[in-house]
Amino acid sequence: MLYPIGCLVHKQKKQGAAGFTHFCSMNTVVARPVSYSRTTLTELMIPAYANFGGKIHGGTLLSLMDKVAYACAAKHAGEYCVTVSVDGVNFRQPVDVGELVSLMASVNYVGRTSLVIGIKVIAENVKTGVVKHTNTSYFTMVAKDETGKPTEVPPLLLETPDDVRRFLEAMKRKELRATYSEHFDNARTRMLLAENLSQLTTERCTLSEALANELS
Ligand SMILES: CC(C)(COP(=O)(O)OP(=O)(O)OC[C@H]1O[C@@H](n2cnc3c(N)ncnc32)[C@H](O)[C@@H]1OP(=O)(O)O)[C@@H](O)C(=O)NCCC(=O)NCCS
Repeated sequence: MLYPIGCLVHKQKKQGAAGFTHFCSMNTVVARPVSYSRTTLTELMIPAYANFGGKIHGGTLLSLMDKVAYACAAKHAGEYCVTVSVDGVNFRQPVDVGELVSLMASVNYVGRTSLVIGIKVIAENVKTGVVKHTNTSYFTMVAKDETGKPTEVPPLLLETPDDVRRFLEAMKRKELRATYSEHFDNARTRMLLAENLSQLTTERCTLSEALANELS
């Protein structure tokens, strides 16, 4: 059996039956359930959204994802939010003109001022009813106050095993991202061009003659 952490139980009791109060009487931030800010955006893919190949622009989908991430994050935070980073944008299947795209967003994780919004994108062929899952991505947003400074967001109340799984997975992604950044930054500062030129011999690139002379 999974138990929410003690402070959330305590704080939830102070919420009262009426709903999702921002602050309890002691001015402590009350946890908000995932369901409070769950948001779905549905949009018809019109010809103006198509690329030269007749499929929908990846950028159009990214813009819609940013929009739904903002709506979901701002609702949870009760504040203006900005997009900080995006993880896992892999379009598995193209989206066609005439399809109905739905973007389902929910808060997966909250830090102190940041929130991770998980977004599942599906596209439905309205004639056949066939639905395809095009991608699932994760937007990290940060809440800002009126002066533009990052501001604390309410904790997240986890009500289902899926809520818990998503929170734990977001923690793992955050940890992996930190490890990746550390390794990449170290690798970059150590990257001496002349010493690493041999790595390019099996790649599909060629140095200009002038550059080859300069680096040799
Ligand atoms: C994101 C931003 C607010 C961070 O500012 P900062 O002074 O570094 O603030 P902090 O170090 O306190 O970080 C704030 C939070 O952002 C998180 N964060 C910062 N950079 C991050 C990144 N690259 N990926 C994920 N989270 C990040 C921090 O972990 C912290 O989270 P927490 O409070 O939950 O622990 C600032 O860089 C910014 O305003 N960027 C521009 C965002 C924007 O305008 N987006 C629109 C696109 S045009």
